[in-house]
Amino acid sequence: MDRIAITGGAQLNGIIPVSGAKNSAIKLMAASLLTDQPLRLTNMPRLADTKFLGKLLTRLGTHVDEREGPDGSETILHAPEITSGFAPYDLVRQMRASFNVLGPLVARTGQAKVSLPGGCTIGARPVDLHLQALEALGAKIDLHEGYVYAQAPRGLKGGEIEFPFVSVGATEHAMLAAVLADGVTVIKNAACEPELLDLQICLNAMGARVEGAGTPTITITGVAKLHGATHSVIPDRIEMGTYAVAAAMAGGEVQLTRSRPELIDSLLVKLEEAGCGVVRTEDGVIIRRNGHRLEAVDVETQPYPGFATDLQAQFMALMTTAKGESRIRETIFENRFMHAPELMRLGADISVSGGEARVRGVERLEGAEVMATDLRASVSLVIAGLVARGETTVSRIYHLDRGFERLEEKLGACGAQVRRIKGEPEDAIDND
Ligand code: UD1
Repeated sequence: MDRIAITGGAQLNGIIPVSGAKNSAIKLMAASLLTDQPLRLTNMPRLADTKFLGKLLTRLGTHVDEREGPDGSETILHAPEITSGFAPYDLVRQMRASFNVLGPLVARTGQAKVSLPGGCTIGARPVDLHLQALEALGAKIDLHEGYVYAQAPRGLKGGEIEFPFVSVGATEHAMLAAVLADGVTVIKNAACEPELLDLQICLNAMGARVEGAGTPTITITGVAKLHGATHSVIPDRIEMGTYAVAAAMAGGEVQLTRSRPELIDSLLVKLEEAGCGVVRTEDGVIIRRNGHRLEAVDVETQPYPGFATDLQAQFMALMTTAKGESRIRETIFENRFMHAPELMRLGADISVSGGEARVRGVERLEGAEVMATDLRASVSLVIAGLVARGETTVSRIYHLDRGFERLEEKLGACGAQVRRIKGEPEDAIDND
């Protein structure tokens, strides 16, 4: 099992290009199941998660061709026919979002058998809303022995889907299924995350008729067939936010490029409030901090455009050395403070009660051995390690590899002392 070792104390200075968004890329890849023509995705991140999904899609009949194009990495996905509608547990459990193949499979072939994703480390995370959405589109759903059997032999029918609360995955899943349904589908209380709009743009380029993504109401007029398209994956706002926090933590000046600052506005406002220099540019942001200590500020996670739950762990790491006490409230997932005890091993002063963590800033952190518990938690430990005195080693970093492309290289290019220590391979476990 690989580990990452960080020697704290170096400032970060330089440029970090932001990759394509993992959370968008994996839903766009699933969209390739909806057509017998090739879907070309550019600005693709190369991550463990995109590999997992590529493996599953191959098993279902998709040719997955990863190559370097004129604008960087791209993937061409071509499913001339669906050779299997079966997504087994061993592939779905590795990444929860694999479950999103269910809708496209039923939409295209009228049936599918897909494993339930199973439990994960950041809460119960059921898929009831996904299944309700497919039922609203006329699919017959049965659950047996950990598998979802979905059937719509005469095709899906447009319908009204009203989610009781916001779910990114269920909204995307409903969109992916409804594009080939007969008639109009209206999704109410839809998630508004930018990845939804990215999916709409891609689906429409494939011939779908989707309107309203990015707002709480999405309207989809079903079409009989989709065709191939080329689509560039939206920049990864979580990666951008993570490096913004890393720069704020380590000090120095880092320019994040190939992205859009408005995607992380809720974070940038908090960084400014804490006393960090933030300059929004045309294709990203410059983060600057010279020597002075940041002030503690409070955050509460919310659906987009609120403060992203996927940046909560990183922000907590930042607050461990700020002046004063910060209150961090997590409202999206229960049990998403598993990084807190690990940060405390580095000397952080944190108490957690229910959905709230109180972080009392300390003068300095001390390097230690710590363990990654999930994808975003793991990077928070790297961020803390950037300022901890001595060496911090983070184990179980397969979590990191799921979502951060060339992390050591990107941080290293800005002067961070980060290196990977090779170990035995290990199976990844699902989380986000
Ligand atoms: C996606 C992101 C993840 C991010 C999260 C919230 C991907 C691959 N992952 O996850 O990085 O942290 O959005 O921004 O895009 N829920 C149910 N029933 C359901 C579905 C969800 O109860 O059927 C609950 C979840 O347990 C959670 C909440 O709804 O408490 C929000 O989850 P959701 O928005 O669905 O997150 P994901 O799509 O899984």
